[in-house]
Amino acid sequence: MNFRAKSFSHIIVKSKVEIMKASYDRLFKGNDEWIKEKLKLDPEYFKRLAKGQKPEFLWIGCSDSRVPANEITGTESGEIFVHRNIANQVIHSDTNMLSVLQYAVEYLHVKHVIVCGHYGCGGVKAAMDTQYVGLVGRWLAHIKDIFQLNKQTLDEINDPEAREKRMVELNVIEQVHNLAKTSIVQKAWKKRELEIHGWVYSLEDGRIIDLDCKYSNIDQLEPIYRFSGI
Ligand code: CO
Repeated sequence: MNFRAKSFSHIIVKSKVEIMKASYDRLFKGNDEWIKEKLKLDPEYFKRLAKGQKPEFLWIGCSDSRVPANEITGTESGEIFVHRNIANQVIHSDTNMLSVLQYAVEYLHVKHVIVCGHYGCGGVKAAMDTQYVGLVGRWLAHIKDIFQLNKQTLDEINDPEAREKRMVELNVIEQVHNLAKTSIVQKAWKKRELEIHGWVYSLEDGRIIDLDCKYSNIDQLEPIYRFSGI
């Protein structure tokens, strides 16, 4: 009896290990298949990509696993420079985001910067709730400010789902505004064309909606945010 119990527990432990291994190994199997597929269509695919990148777009999106920049825009590797964080935020003190922005604008010379939010965003949902969520709450505090800033508009929407969707849109609009406030973007505007766009992605049907909050020059920005001497 004792022996049987022991061997039974051994099988369970082994199967847990196997489950973990299979979960992990799937990525390498997927990688092998992807390489084969790419080479079948274009034998020079990797040689060409390895030479360098010249993306026209910088994507600032949510970390959500359901919003992959290339897949939803039907683009390939090399076409979109990507930065993602929880709830697609542009925070002025975030050196990670700012470094990505500077590199994309000043060295890669991207033509468009896109902030892409998505309906059903867990980050926005959490920011609209008062439940304490730990460290991530500190990151989401910026979205609480946007909520408070637009409280009157949001209070007029009775349907909770519609209110949450509007909040997702307002967050994107604010992050696009934050991009326009950066010296990196304003410096680029002095020399060349650069457009900043705000999008929302719908998880329910895969559709991208342009929120029509584009900035393409400094005149669109409130005077207090315009840098002189850059
Ligand atoms: Co999200």
